[in-house]
Amino acid sequence: MKHVMVTGGAGFIGSAVCRYLIKEKQYRVLNLDKLTYAGVPESLREIENSPLYRFAQVDICDHAKVSALLDDFRPDAVMHLAAESHVDRSIDGPAAFIETNIVGTYTMLECAREYWSTLPKTAKERSPASDRRPLTSEFRFHHISTDEVYGSLGAKGLFDETTPYDPRSPYSASKASSDHLVMAWHHTYGLPVVITNCSNNYGPYHFPEKLIPLVILNAMDEKPLPIYGKGDNIRDWLYVEDHARALVTVVEHGRCGETYNVGGRNERTNLEVVETICRILDEIKPRTSGTKYRDLITYVADRPGHDKRYAIDATKLETELGWKALEDFDSGIRKTVQWYIDNEWWWMPIRQKTYSGERLGKTPKTGSSV
Ligand SMILES: NC(=O)c1ccc[n+]([C@@H]2O[C@H](COP(=O)([O-])OP(=O)(O)OC[C@H]3O[C@@H](n4cnc5c(N)ncnc54)[C@H](O)[C@@H]3O)[C@@H](O)[C@H]2O)c1
Repeated sequence: MKHVMVTGGAGFIGSAVCRYLIKEKQYRVLNLDKLTYAGVPESLREIENSPLYRFAQVDICDHAKVSALLDDFRPDAVMHLAAESHVDRSIDGPAAFIETNIVGTYTMLECAREYWSTLPKTAKERSPASDRRPLTSEFRFHHISTDEVYGSLGAKGLFDETTPYDPRSPYSASKASSDHLVMAWHHTYGLPVVITNCSNNYGPYHFPEKLIPLVILNAMDEKPLPIYGKGDNIRDWLYVEDHARALVTVVEHGRCGETYNVGGRNERTNLEVVETICRILDEIKPRTSGTKYRDLITYVADRPGHDKRYAIDATKLETELGWKALEDFDSGIRKTVQWYIDNEWWWMPIRQKTYSGERLGKTPKTGSSV
């Protein structure tokens, strides 16, 4: 696999995938991204001048432009990450989630199907010799999805690939719909697909509306650290660079038509997450007032339909494809806090432009979701 089209490559996870594909694999990447509020081209600074990297500002709902790019770039795989991704925003304004996550994925599937149907079936059909297109059997459409499609867990149990879908928010319902479309295109048309469903990501270049970067930056700004409800919702945290490596492992080696769950085996309550960040900051960047960062924690009214617990069983990915998370939460969160301390150039313009320390997409004095 040498040529990969990535959608949503200016986003948090997509940019990690682009960086990994170029720096670690030396693959050619075409990043197709609309650059919504969540698209941050600066996240690609490390690779933007690489001869292996190409960018196209395109909406995934634009069939003609996506098709033209597929025909021109002739990818071995499409890694489809473009989405509206913030649950709180989906409660305030679900329309964009339906449009991008469902209609956009449908458009990507149709464009991919058309491109795939023109590919050679055997090596002999490749002519002239310079034809580097993949065979129909080699092409992959990789859809990146979330564990939120499975709904909410009680105190025990884990999501695995057989867990029935039970989405609760407009965001998770739109992602569940897109997963079903992807599998339908596989079963109906034979499109070679793989799906991954992952738990909550964290790490460098995370847009500061999400819990972890919001808490780090608010703490450094001496602003309240908002927590929904009692802070007892549990998420299973996955370091974004571990996730990028998992995604590339799946697109290269995953079995066609299969789903793989990706998780870090790092369950934490939201309160534990925030308190850990506070402890690390107390150690490496103590408050000038001499008080502790945890004094900034503020509990706010819970959001509607807030799922209690997510936790992933990644056994299939670990045993079948040999992937393992390299970071545990303690090492990953320390790296993340240090990254935000060291990289003000990245987050400061975002904070100044769109955001003043309250959560985006909702009225102030509400909490931060994950
Ligand atoms: N962040 C997580 O913890 C997490 C967890 C599970 C699954 N996911 C999934 O992973 C994928 C990436 O998530 P993320 O956190 O990087 O998201 P993100 O919000 O950081 O980035 C999304 C990217 O998609 C682009 N985009 C949005 N609408 C588009 C459109 N119509 N056409 C083209 N580009 C468009 C944006 O400009 C942005 O660059 C999403 O599909 C999301 O559902 C994320």
